[in-house]
This record gives sequence, structure tokens and C-alpha cells, in this order.
Amino acid sequence: MGVAGEIQATALVAAACRAEETRQPAPRLTDPYAERFLDSLDAAGRALLAAGRDEVVHRTTLIDGLLLDEVRRHPGATVVNLGAGLCTRPYRLDLSACREYVEVDAPEILARKATVLGGAEPSCPVRRIPGDVRGLPALGVDGPAVLVTEGLLVYLPPAELAGLAATLGGLPAVTGWLADVVSADSARAMAAVAGRARAGLALHGLESMDTVERAGWAVADYRLLPARRPAARPTGRPPGPSVPASRRVLDGVVLLRPAAPPRTVTGQAVS
Ligand SMILES: C[S@@+](CC[C@H](N)C(=O)[O-])C[C@H]1O[C@@H](n2cnc3c(N)ncnc32)[C@H](O)[C@@H]1O
Repeated sequence: MGVAGEIQATALVAAACRAEETRQPAPRLTDPYAERFLDSLDAAGRALLAAGRDEVVHRTTLIDGLLLDEVRRHPGATVVNLGAGLCTRPYRLDLSACREYVEVDAPEILARKATVLGGAEPSCPVRRIPGDVRGLPALGVDGPAVLVTEGLLVYLPPAELAGLAATLGGLPAVTGWLADVVSADSARAMAAVAGRARAGLALHGLESMDTVERAGWAVADYRLLPARRPAARPTGRPPGPSVPASRRVLDGVVLLRPAAPPRTVTGQAVS
């Protein structure tokens, strides 16, 4: 396994979104480090930046807020960011209450990040583990952990997402998992933008949260992103399995918690 080059390149697009936001007169977030990565942004990356800045900035600020809350609730926790890309959260946020901040991504991404951020001072110890989340490397985390996946799940087909959710569900002492979620319609619209930009990305949205819920997670908080993306053109494909409106995924950020195990009476599940 290994993360495809065109998927790794999206890390640069996300950094470019935060760099551009930082240059605005009233930025919604400030990432003074993002600019440092931008020398290799190509035409496809610039097209994706133009289409996606608002969404990336929104999801990043939502995850920032929820993560700071979670760390306040669990001082001494380790943050594990899977598909961390060029995110600089431990450098731009005060995460000094954390035991450490662990980042997993492709070796090329993490090596570049280590070089570019070499002289910068994080607010808590940072440890980087090169690897592929589809075969999650050992994290070596002790004690409570908060998981973060930002901009990652959309690159995982359903079976791979189910596998990751099950693996994460089996980790000990996880307090929560913060993730952005993208609807199937939005993923199709994003794929159309990526196609026009010749970025060569296959994107996978969610019809519902069934896949992660079946792996033992429960949605504890759900913050919506503003819905601005134009609807995808009809594909001619039949619609996916029908999902009740109340269960349909809308683009947003979720806080997942390990679902409580079913109550049992003398070893039998209570329905
Ligand atoms: C859109 S970027 C988001 C990066 C970062 N989380 C952020 O918000 O700035 C997606 C990231 O996920 C990483 N990624 C995608 N699939 C992965 C996999 N199977 N294993 C590890 N990393 C993966 C890519 O290399 C890339 O850095």
C-alpha cells in the first residue's frame, strides 16, 4: 500500500487554502506556517484552491474549536491526526495541555513537513509516523487519545473506511474522533471540479453514517458547513440505497465517540 501522489498533493491544496485565508484582512484563522509549503503548488492545485478555500477554512476552524474543547476536557491526552498532511495545528494552536501530538501520513509528506517546520516550536511534543492509515502503523500511544481525520475520509472507498473505523474503534482509551464528513452529492461535485482541473482524484462521499456507526462509533456532535457547492450534474447512474432524510449526511464536522456496549443481563444483550 502507499498513498497515491495525486492524493498526497491535496495536502498542499489544504495548506494553500489556509495560507490564502491568513492573508485576508479579517481572516477566520491564521496559519503563519502554511505559506512555507506553497512553492510546489501547480495549476491543478490552484484550481482546487479556488474552488475549495471556503470549505477547508470552515472545516479547519470547526475542528480547531472542537479539538480545543476535547483537550480541555481531557488534559494530558494525546492527539492523533491521521492523514495530517501539512496541517500545522500543534504550531498555531495552544495544545500545551496535550501529552503529545502524533501525525500519520505518507513518508514524503511528513519528511517535507519536518524540513519546512524544522525551526518552528510546537506547543506540545510532536511525533510523526510515516504510513498508510489503511494498514495503520502502531501508534505507541499511552493513555487517553483524541483522534482527528481532516480531509481524509473522502479518499477512502466504503470498505476502506469501514476497515479504518473498525481499527480505530479497537484502539484503547479513545475519548473521541473528530472528522469532517462529505455527502455523496458533494463528493460528486468535488470530483467534477477535480476532473476539470485534471487532478485525477477519486472521491467517496457518505450517504449516511452507517459505515462508522456499524464499526462501534456514535455521533456525539455534528456541526454543519455552509452549503454552497453547486449540485453535481446528474450522472445517469441509479441513486444509492435510499436513506431517510433524517439519516442523510450533510457536509460538516462530527465528533464521534465509542458507542456504549449493549447492556447485558447475564451475558445476553438487552434489546
Ligand atoms: C486533503 S489532505 C488533508 C491534510 C490535512 N489533514 C489538512 O487538513 O490539511 C489529505 C491528506 O490525507 C493523506 N492521506 C490520504 N490517504 C491516506 C492514507 N491512506 N494513509 C495516510 N494518509 C493518507 C494525504 O497524503 C493528504 O496529506
